[in-house]
Amino acid sequence: MRIAILDESPASEPRVAATPETVKKFIVLGAELAVQKGAGLASGIVDADYEAAGATVAKTAKEALKGADIVLKVRRPGEAEIKALPAGALVAAMMDPYGNEAAVQALAEAKVNAFAMEFMPRITRAQVMDVLSSQANLAGYRAVIDGAGEYGRALPMMMTAAGTVPAAKIFVMGVGVAGLQAIATARRLGAIVTATDVRPATKEQVESLGAKFLAVEDEEFQQAQTAGGYAKEMSKDYQAKQAALVASHIAKQDIVITTALIPGRSAPRLISKEMVESMRAGSVIVDLAVERGGNCEMARPGETVVTPNGVRIVGHLNVAGRIPATASSLYARNLYAFLETLIDKDNKALAIDWDDEIVKATCLTRDGAVVHPNFQAKA
Ligand code: NAI
Repeated sequence: MRIAILDESPASEPRVAATPETVKKFIVLGAELAVQKGAGLASGIVDADYEAAGATVAKTAKEALKGADIVLKVRRPGEAEIKALPAGALVAAMMDPYGNEAAVQALAEAKVNAFAMEFMPRITRAQVMDVLSSQANLAGYRAVIDGAGEYGRALPMMMTAAGTVPAAKIFVMGVGVAGLQAIATARRLGAIVTATDVRPATKEQVESLGAKFLAVEDEEFQQAQTAGGYAKEMSKDYQAKQAALVASHIAKQDIVITTALIPGRSAPRLISKEMVESMRAGSVIVDLAVERGGNCEMARPGETVVTPNGVRIVGHLNVAGRIPATASSLYARNLYAFLETLIDKDNKALAIDWDDEIVKATCLTRDGAVVHPNFQAKA
């Protein structure tokens, strides 16, 4: 059983799909690993670390992929990589399949069994494999660090001989996995934190982290959580009430971190141009939803916009990748936990139970066809 790990830096991805820790664990399961030269460098792992863990280092992607039964990646394989994938191999990555149907088809045509890690169901057994959570948590942390870096003042209250420095006010919009970590991080740095969400379950979570909850708590709010734990798209009427409440609050904030998402839709617009204009010069907005259209009207993907009134709007892409060593280590553990369930420990070979709930939820392509229900042509 051969496992290939590729270098993703040519695609500007600093994360890597295996660490020396997971390499060792895969070897215990009976695998041989080939890691492409330089694959871990951006995550602080040198080739010698992989070799010390028992992997071999391959000069090229092609060499690493030769004879591979399993290919582990952070991102969906690119065109050149797809050509080099051995037919029948299992490929696990964050496939980003929506809007990339041609690439999904290309994986099917390459006759690989492709698994989309972001489709991992949110059931107890799969928590350890949940890449959305492991990466969103780090993005939430990094958003506060990025916000603090752009902010020209200190976050905690300081009493110095030269006088007192007030604590910064941080407002977190959207309290899922990323938002909760943003609140916790902002609190640790000494900020005064408020937070909002449309799901009522978040109120207690916000308060338990020592922050203040702010939301329009009407009847619609009481119903805003789906059975899956996600938010629904709110009515126009609710959105208007939410905007009115938020508008006066935002004007008084120093840093705003937005993380609000609705599955399968573009991100809800929570911060208008007028709200940005109401903020003080030197205030910062960090929009974690920028890849999905942005929570802030003025955010731009991959840019830090400085508005005429001196507000800095941070729109970094791949925020988890901005803390690459930790992100790789958690992602690699997610992958290991998933793969472990697909490997027969006695025969030391892949033995996929195609009826398993986790396999069914994540399998995109199999035996030359796109098999995931979300990608079937409508009859
Ligand atoms: P997400 O990334 O889809 O959305 C982030 C947050 O934005 C959510 O809390 C959502 O309610 C909020 N939001 C949406 N529209 C909004 C609006 N108009 N205004 C303000 N906030 C808005 O969510 P994420 O982080 O994926 O978490 C979703 C749920 O899944 C949570 O309940 C979380 O606790 C749960 N979860 C369960 C897991 C498990 O059981 N294995 C693992 C991870 C998360």
